[in-house]
Amino acid sequence: MINVAVLGYGTVGSGVVEVIGKNKEEISKKAGEELGIKYILDLREFPGDPYEDKVVHDVDVILTDPDVSIICETMGGIEPAYTFSKRALMSGKSVCTSNKELVASHGPELIRLAKENNCNYLFEASVGGGIPIIRPMNYSLTAEKIDAITGILNGTTNYILSKMAAEGADFEDVLKEAQEKGYAERNPEADVEGYDACRKIAILSSLMTGKNVRYEDIYTEGITKITATDFVYAKAMGRSIKLLALSRENGGDFYAMVAPFMIPVSHPLYSVNDVFNAVFVHGNMLGDSMYYGRGAGKLPTASAVVSDVVDCARHAGKTIMCFWDTENVKLTDVAQVKHKFFVRTKAELEKKALEVFGSVGVIEADVAGEFAFVTDEMTEKEFAGKAEELGCVLNRIRIES
Ligand code: HSE
Repeated sequence: MINVAVLGYGTVGSGVVEVIGKNKEEISKKAGEELGIKYILDLREFPGDPYEDKVVHDVDVILTDPDVSIICETMGGIEPAYTFSKRALMSGKSVCTSNKELVASHGPELIRLAKENNCNYLFEASVGGGIPIIRPMNYSLTAEKIDAITGILNGTTNYILSKMAAEGADFEDVLKEAQEKGYAERNPEADVEGYDACRKIAILSSLMTGKNVRYEDIYTEGITKITATDFVYAKAMGRSIKLLALSRENGGDFYAMVAPFMIPVSHPLYSVNDVFNAVFVHGNMLGDSMYYGRGAGKLPTASAVVSDVVDCARHAGKTIMCFWDTENVKLTDVAQVKHKFFVRTKAELEKKALEVFGSVGVIEADVAGEFAFVTDEMTEKEFAGKAEELGCVLNRIRIES
């Protein structure tokens, strides 16, 4: 019998219990042995819950029980999840997590601890919810040198931008509606400011490079400045606006970035709408591959956690290889990164804009009082200098081809 403990009986934790309960036979068959929930750690009581008798309030009950071999950490946040995960790994118990904050902050250390203790620290659910992406990066694309990852990694912002595109609505109105429907948190900062996508691309970038990409080093811009007028232009250009999380490697230069981009209808991520996520990966042998699905939600995320539980069960006493060193990657200064930019300015600045930016593609979208254009490719630094010289940029959005 493989005994599993779940830390945190919230949305994902209760999903893990539900997935194991509903698919017990299948999961046990795939794990090679019967698998069941022995404990659920939570501060709260759950009277009437079918798993009420499994709930404990003291983590030591779990950590000192030699019968527990696998722990699902679905608490979120850094502490106490970090301390509990370290203690579990040091006692030889594998940990499967959905906690992107913790993986992005302490991934290499926890992976090393797992290796030292012949167990595993697995984190499939930390990026892209239920979409298999960590396992493909770790086990499937091993013949590749991956040079580009482009992801829609946040469901909340993708839902908001999809609604804005479909309804011509403004950010604040759609955010309010998303909060009412439970698609956005009451405090939506981590999603709308891009911090959540930043943690996720830091994890994927680390797996891409095999070294540590610090999330703190990633240039991150959210969607709060995107307006209904930007979508009027996007439509006229045959484009959509998406919050993209990018990693790019080019001749030893490496950068990662989270920001809204205008993408053309021909882009594989153009049709990824609502709460769906997708990750577009380019390898030097395979070329393009794409991973698509539900990037959030109770059961999809729990399914990914449980897939890691099965992997831990199959590799009892052995550590699955994962290349994520503690050495930090030095990211290319974002000021040197090149893009084309879509720019909106006041109509009266048309002549000056043409003088400052030179060759541009003018965008006609019948927006009164404005002049809009797409620049040639230039560095972020060059763009910032020209924007300052122009004196008024109503908005600017990077262009992804
Ligand atoms: N808030 C996240 C999202 C949840 O909207 O994608 C999944 O990490």
